[in-house]
Amino acid sequence: MGRAPAAAMIPGLALLWAAALGVAAPSTPRLRLSFQELQARHGLRTFRLERTCCYEALLVDEERGRLFVGAENHVASLSLDNISKRAKKLAWPAPVEWREECNWAGKDIATECMNFVKLLHVYNHTHLLVCGTGAFHPTCAFVEVGHRLEEPMLRLDLQSLEDGKGKSPYDPKHRAASVLVGQELYSGVAADLMGRDFTIFRSLGRRPSLRTEPHDSRWLNEPKFVKVFWIPESENPDDDKIYFFFREMAVEAAPALGRLSVSRVGQICRNDVGGQRSLVSKWTTFLKARLVCSVLGVEGDTHFDQIQDVFLLPSRDPRNPLLYAVFSTSSGIFQGSAVCVYSMNDIRRAFLGPFAHKEGPMHQWVSYQGRVPYPRPGMCPSKTFGTFSSTKDFPDDVIQFARNHPLMYNSVLPMGGRPLFLQVGAGYTFTQIVADRVAAADGHYDVLFIGTDTGMVLKVISVPKGSRPSSEGLLLEELNVFEDSAAVTSMQISSKRHQLYVASRSAVAQIALHRCAAHGRACAECCLARDPYCAWDGAACTRFQPSVKRRFRRQDVRNGDPSTLCSGDMSRPTLLERKVFGVEGGSAFLECEPRSLQARVNWTFQRVGEQARTQVPAEGRAERTAQGLLLRGLRRGDSGVYLCAAVEHGFSQPLRRLALHVLNAAQAERLARIEEAAPAAPLGPKLWYRDFLQLVEPGGGGGGANSLRMCRPPPAPRPPLPEQRRKGRNRRTHAPEPRAERGPRSATHW
Ligand SMILES: *[C@@H]1O[C@H](CO)[C@@H](O)[C@H](O)[C@H]1NC(C)=O
Ligand SMILES: *[C@@H]1O[C@H](CO)[C@@H](O)[C@H](O)[C@H]1NC(C)=O
Ligand SMILES: *[C@@H]1O[C@H](CO)[C@@H](O)[C@H](O)[C@H]1NC(C)=O
Repeated sequence: MGRAPAAAMIPGLALLWAAALGVAAPSTPRLRLSFQELQARHGLRTFRLERTCCYEALLVDEERGRLFVGAENHVASLSLDNISKRAKKLAWPAPVEWREECNWAGKDIATECMNFVKLLHVYNHTHLLVCGTGAFHPTCAFVEVGHRLEEPMLRLDLQSLEDGKGKSPYDPKHRAASVLVGQELYSGVAADLMGRDFTIFRSLGRRPSLRTEPHDSRWLNEPKFVKVFWIPESENPDDDKIYFFFREMAVEAAPALGRLSVSRVGQICRNDVGGQRSLVSKWTTFLKARLVCSVLGVEGDTHFDQIQDVFLLPSRDPRNPLLYAVFSTSSGIFQGSAVCVYSMNDIRRAFLGPFAHKEGPMHQWVSYQGRVPYPRPGMCPSKTFGTFSSTKDFPDDVIQFARNHPLMYNSVLPMGGRPLFLQVGAGYTFTQIVADRVAAADGHYDVLFIGTDTGMVLKVISVPKGSRPSSEGLLLEELNVFEDSAAVTSMQISSKRHQLYVASRSAVAQIALHRCAAHGRACAECCLARDPYCAWDGAACTRFQPSVKRRFRRQDVRNGDPSTLCSGDMSRPTLLERKVFGVEGGSAFLECEPRSLQARVNWTFQRVGEQARTQVPAEGRAERTAQGLLLRGLRRGDSGVYLCAAVEHGFSQPLRRLALHVLNAAQAERLARIEEAAPAAPLGPKLWYRDFLQLVEPGGGGGGANSLRMCRPPPAPRPPLPEQRRKGRNRRTHAPEPRAERGPRSATHW
């Protein structure tokens, strides 16, 4: 596949791609919350160690109530309830000799020759297993963390230092993917200094180590491991398998296509002990299949070919969890990411299907049609499916076949045949994913939290689309959990505590899974939010507890339709009428910004002395901006009441009622004089307003200073930056512009 990095800069091309995928534009979240807002109002907590970077390993330990963190030269133990509170830290730098060796090998002393802690596992009741790069000298150690009910402790057991080769990567740029099962570590990692010998490795424990066949591109071809899981296959533990998720260069691609990246799922049996005469100390049950995440198009399929992360969402049946995976593309032409969901049944079916076969160097990969030896390669030796009790008993033809046929012919397709959620041309790509299954009033929903390479976290819900099992993802929130925009390197969730933990190069952040109050103060807003964690309790949008009686709680995640649920709900705050003044020929800005970014704004107008309401067209002298309505070349006839409503999901909700008074030139001049005579200081704004009100409404002014607003349009119609937008809220009290050009005094004509 040809690379065209320059094309990534061409937005038109990205749009073309987006159109080809059937998506008009990147999905817009309903809410976008900045770091400052999250910190000030939604309990965002941050953890950072001084002069330490690269928070990459996170481990949630619900029993001890701790979050363990691996970073550059450090391990930290934080409280799961509040990561900013009572943190314990442990320094674990690489020895000076190793750092010097690393430097002599041509690595950078300050950024590479450090101990980057990459791997954390709960090892037993008192200790963690911790591994780091050790300045290109991978090392593991046991860290004592104490019993469950003891005071938290964190002590490095220096007697227990072990070789970390095949456990932690050498290179800080590489990721470690591993799972600890019964004190044996299964890892996918580069096992050499040069980063060329990638292996799936079993170490620790009492059994001899096992690995993949080295330097055989059919087994592994420049893999990048992402996640490893232990998933039972039956009631019999002898059938347990370990599944590896990774991406690599496709060996099966036609040479004309060049280097193609593919995503894979690989399997091995937990009770594999290697072969007797051949494949000694190597896996005899290793198989891999392609994982597809693509969108069919007229011009060909678009492949999200680079798996970035996988989350295993347990279900009641431990053999059949759901696997939520995030993918990006290796294409230089467009930037896109997708979430695909896989079932274990589909993965197992691929491993039971035909093997991929290549007769010789000049042949293509085809589906193997010959006899497959017994027991079928990939099956674990167990009483469930056969009579073999160890892989050492497997016949030679089985071992030979397994060695030459690690790849399956069929791919694994996502559930529903397509991505659950995709984002194209949004300026970021997905890097991490975690999921939570939530009980809502109308069923269970999976909520996904997706980390991006710009430090943002997306909250997406999976809702049934048409008939099950097809679902689609809805983007609810975009959360800027970091002050900077460093990529999300790791995420962990505590469903029990309702908290999300997010790591990046620069910090660790903690945020609750829900922010119900942020959805709004009206029943309709709470309902439109479709957040399964939240419901309208009659007075506010609050956390939904499935145990609380249903009739008091209003929630409609499936349809987000407030018209029935919220009708007759009188709790909506009444709309105060606000006064806005403008000068003939000048401009007026009518501010109205719905909280939801997915709402459209509908402006209607009722002229002074008239009953009829007309819709304000979106053209001519009236210009719509994201923050409100800008009226130019004001005329006397523009005076009247403007009503702003947010229309979302077919539901219209009034937001603001603004009474515009257009002043004539004489009034405006007197106003200018009052303004001159009223310096900001001693009188204060209140008195100034009273004078002014008497000027325009003799005997009036009953509305008081709070209901009166003088508005000046923003300097230019271009949308301000989000920061400016927020600040703008409190800064809308300005005099009109008396110098503006005069328009003809005819009837209102937009
Ligand atoms: C978390 O702990 C910090 C430090 O003790 C404290 O300042 C902060 O208020 C706590 N936050 C919450 C939400 O408990
Ligand atoms: C846990 O493992 C460590 C390291 O092997 C060992 O020193 C410790 O005694 C073990 N603790 C228990 C409770 O088995
Ligand atoms: C805007 O509001 C008016 C008056 O309530 C209504 O008649 C009209 O249908 C609305 N337009 C849209 C697009 O919702």
